[in-house]
Amino acid sequence: MSMKLPFFRKKKIHKKNDKEILTNIPEHVAIIMDGNGRWAKGKGLPRIAGHKEGMNNVTKTVRAANKYGVKTLTLYAFSTENWKRPRSEVEFIMKLPKQFLHVYLPEMIENNVQIRTIGEFESLPSHTKEAVQYAVDQTKDNDGLILNLALNYGSRHEILRAMKKIMKEVESSSLSIDDIDEEQLSSYLYTNGFNDPDLLIRTSGEKRVSNFLLWQIAYSELWFTDVLWPDFDESTFVQALKDYEQRKRRYGGI
Ligand code: IPE
Ligand code: IPE
Ligand code: MG
Repeated sequence: MSMKLPFFRKKKIHKKNDKEILTNIPEHVAIIMDGNGRWAKGKGLPRIAGHKEGMNNVTKTVRAANKYGVKTLTLYAFSTENWKRPRSEVEFIMKLPKQFLHVYLPEMIENNVQIRTIGEFESLPSHTKEAVQYAVDQTKDNDGLILNLALNYGSRHEILRAMKKIMKEVESSSLSIDDIDEEQLSSYLYTNGFNDPDLLIRTSGEKRVSNFLLWQIAYSELWFTDVLWPDFDESTFVQALKDYEQRKRRYGGI
């Protein structure tokens, strides 16, 4: 007859509060959250299931960014080119901000997060605008992590829009051509008031920037991962931070 021997378990490690010691944390991290469709395909699910999973996943990165002291997190959620997708997919994506905020806005408020947006907001469906505007208003007095959602954002559109605004002001003589410098042009972009991203992450293995923050990433550090957005988690985020920690930024100097 066999007898059960007592054994000693290793002390349980509470992973939740583990924090890697990192220095040189990027102030502004921008992420191209790509690969929702492929994630779904890999599981035999419709593309929209990937978008839903991707939406739920945003909160992990917000928590991780907060935990490591990132000041601004800009997430590419919908591009000006994404309107090319089938109408049913676009309609589904446009419902996600409301669903996301319904679940996670209380946590964001509790964690002092400020929600902002960049992009051509006016052309979004009214239900999307209302939900997002409500969250922006509710968090406007917070002073913690800025969660900046790029919705209907496209860099070329942004630069063209800035050019037109500048030209109108020049035309009406409220601005002189000689006064336009880089800082001035930056102030006409949606990102006015934000520092440029220090680190740009793209998931899903694609190595391109897809019309995201073209002006602002002039000197950003780039980090690519094959991980699909719905699988991106704190450990992937920390990998990016660790890589960034080793980078030497020279800005053209020596
Ligand atoms: C990113 O995932 C989400 C959006 C662009 C809205 P994709 O939908 O682009 O996923 P893939 O690239 O097709 O896998
Ligand atoms: C970039 O992903 C846009 C977002 C993540 C919102 P896409 O899937 O649209 O980019 P491409 O088409 O592969 O370049
Ligand atoms: Mg994609």
